[in-house]
Amino acid sequence: MNAIVCVIVVSIVALSSNGFLFNDKEDIILVPSVAFRDHSPTGQSSGWILHNQGWYYEDNPVQATIMTKALSIGIKNVDKERIRLFTASGEDDKKLCVEGLNRAMCTKTDDEGRIKNTFQMTKEEVQSFIQPGGNGGKVTYTVSTPNKKLQAKGEIYLCDDNGISFISDIDDTIKVTGVTSTAAVLANTFAGEYKSIEKMADAYRYWEKRYNATFSYLTASPDQLYPFLREFLDRENFPSGSAHMRHFTWFDVNFIQFFMSANYIKSKTDTLNMFMKNTKNRQFVLIGDIFQKDPDIYADVYNAYSDRILKIFIRKEQNDDRGIERLEEVFKNVPREKWTAFENGDDLPKDIFV
Ligand SMILES: *[C@@H]1O[C@H](CO)[C@@H](O)[C@H](O)[C@H]1NC(C)=O
Repeated sequence: MNAIVCVIVVSIVALSSNGFLFNDKEDIILVPSVAFRDHSPTGQSSGWILHNQGWYYEDNPVQATIMTKALSIGIKNVDKERIRLFTASGEDDKKLCVEGLNRAMCTKTDDEGRIKNTFQMTKEEVQSFIQPGGNGGKVTYTVSTPNKKLQAKGEIYLCDDNGISFISDIDDTIKVTGVTSTAAVLANTFAGEYKSIEKMADAYRYWEKRYNATFSYLTASPDQLYPFLREFLDRENFPSGSAHMRHFTWFDVNFIQFFMSANYIKSKTDTLNMFMKNTKNRQFVLIGDIFQKDPDIYADVYNAYSDRILKIFIRKEQNDDRGIERLEEVFKNVPREKWTAFENGDDLPKDIFV
């Protein structure tokens, strides 16, 4: 067999065994991020600061097998692909190059294999790269290894100083997750098709048009699972936008603790503050649920930026009177017309500010 035939045979075997063209153990995930106007003392305020975010990983079959076994005790049909990404190991100190923008630049992954860079572009440069996406437009780029064997495409959504942004939680706000039960969280995260909360995508798409709004998704879920959330968001037709997630590492905690702990409070608060600090007059609508700490996080942000938070929507269960009492307490410094509880997308008002 000559070399070419051999390569073809190997490729076909790889393709048929796992459904993917390449059987590489390594890959790159990029998560959509944001760009803000450059308000730094040295920057031109018409220019932009762009952020990218991603992860360079290598499969960890041993960890995957262990986790699959652990989950299979209580959960049927554990999704192998989700386990594969979730258990993969970050590749630290790897050189990667960012291309497709005004200048090529290379970077290295951090200790956890994460890709996190910030770069400046002038207004004109952004204008020449801008593509339709969200209402503010987006810039796309490619990250690749120096030998080009691995490549991933990323998106950066522009978030200007003016306008309206909707920032939405995912789990139990737009997606059925069941965060109050460990078994439900794990089953709804690692098995089965992700399901939407009824009519949420319709409400969001309507608001996107009506308010010329941009959307960002703020979630405690690990960014390792972003590709599956993206499949869900696209399938259900949610507005496109940036995603702000946590990152799981086996060094910190075990995976059950990760899903059940409250250490997402800081990361969600930091992300909200990043949006507030980097946009001058932009106004925000915050959407979350009652089942974890969204009300508390949103109330704190409201207290710091009351003139820029237009409305807070909190999803709850039917007949949850105690929940309403909790919200009244948490939102005691928020005017009553600024927050509303809802159960599904049909309860959400078309006109938010009447
Ligand atoms: C919608 O928002 C974008 C980005 O903020 C802006 O460029 C555009 O002019 C707005 N469109 C309308 C109709 O207001």
